[in-house]
Amino acid sequence: MAVLVTGGAGYIGSHTCVELLDAGYEVVVLDNLSNSSEKSLDRVKEITGKDLKFYKGDILDRAIIQKIFDENKIDSCIHFAGLKAVGESVQKPWEYYNNNITGTLTLVDVMRQNGCKNIIFSSSSTVYGTPDEVPVTEKTPKHPCTNPYGWTKSMLEQILSDIQFADNEWNVILLRYFNPIGAHKSGRIGENPNGIPNNLMPYITQVAVGKLEKLGVFGDDYDTPDGTGVRDYIHVVDLAVGHVKALKKIEERAGLKIYNLGTGTGYSVLDIVKNFEEATGVNIPYEIKPRRAGDIAENYADASLAKEELGWVAENGIREMCADSWNWQKNNPNGYEDNEISDDEANAAAGGYVILPNMPTPDSNGGVA
Ligand code: NAD
Ligand code: UFG
Repeated sequence: MAVLVTGGAGYIGSHTCVELLDAGYEVVVLDNLSNSSEKSLDRVKEITGKDLKFYKGDILDRAIIQKIFDENKIDSCIHFAGLKAVGESVQKPWEYYNNNITGTLTLVDVMRQNGCKNIIFSSSSTVYGTPDEVPVTEKTPKHPCTNPYGWTKSMLEQILSDIQFADNEWNVILLRYFNPIGAHKSGRIGENPNGIPNNLMPYITQVAVGKLEKLGVFGDDYDTPDGTGVRDYIHVVDLAVGHVKALKKIEERAGLKIYNLGTGTGYSVLDIVKNFEEATGVNIPYEIKPRRAGDIAENYADASLAKEELGWVAENGIREMCADSWNWQKNNPNGYEDNEISDDEANAAAGGYVILPNMPTPDSNGGVA
């Protein structure tokens, strides 16, 4: 039996493919590569020494989803495919609602027509809006979202819950991710944002590698210990392992379940800068900027339900998250756009720092690495 991984070429999807293959699952990926590169899947195969099947296509396209069901014995689906840029979603709401919501409705319809009623869905802590209290549990009331992207997550949670309520042959697990950062220890797969990153960690690593001059810290007047925003950063490999645990739960007939996937610890923006500097030895210049519209002061998870029911806890600490983010960025300064590195370099990358020809050296950039 195989697992269909939509969006499997993306950041969280590629790390999850590694964990699924390592756990012995057969993996079939559907991705339109709108925000990813097929190279990530080549590297998944390289890391695991195992094969997976890749279909380049869209979750809006019934025909390709049906073709996947015709050609494979799909038992469950882990559904990552979606557009995720908060700011862009404000500019392009139709595209976000169509891609994320119509896409999911299409996927789920073809799934049920083929008798496959097991789905794990990528939700987000964004559904809590401005939470009444922290840490948030799964019972903390959801609040209005501040952008169309967030609404797609909140609405899809409702849609999938209603579908499961109407037909209890469905097993639906909604995973609310907090802030995924880090990369696989090999440094071969990682986050590969288009253009200037919106999120904190890829911005920091691009400052570290010399592509961006300095970090802008969005606000230092929040009601938090140092005034900067507090979030629950979680290592992407821990998050990926959470999906394998959720799949086991699905196999035990989960019904409808919702889990927070976070570490339970909040770190401020300045905590992250400090930990990154200490973990990597690289200085991160920054300046305080005005607050970013739509940001909340703090959010972090109570992840005890995932521990109790899935036997899952995040194992990597903040230093490992920072070190692994940097290991990916320094070895792939231009993400998957970089020329393939040799096997020797790849082997060295797994254990140490490889200087590639097109990246700044300590001499050229005042102390990088
Ligand atoms: P990503 O952009 O790296 O991965 C998403 C993948 O989906 C990409 O490979 C993209 O090409 C693909 N895709 C998008 N629309 C598609 C479509 N219509 N058909 C087929 N493929 C399509 O993002 P990620 O960070 O890996 O996020 C994965 C999921 O987790 C997304 O649903 C995202 O909203 C959710 N999520 C992410 C975060 C985060 O901070 N990264 C936090 C909470 C939730
Ligand atoms: N920040 C900066 N400077 C930057 C980028 C971010 O100071 O250049 C700050 C933000 O103000 C915030 C913190 O760093 O306080 C984290 O910001 P991110 O953009 O990395 O993450 P968010 O918590 O804003 O949101 C992210 C995703 C959402 C998702 C949420 C929870 O963008 O889609 O994590 O998973 F819902």
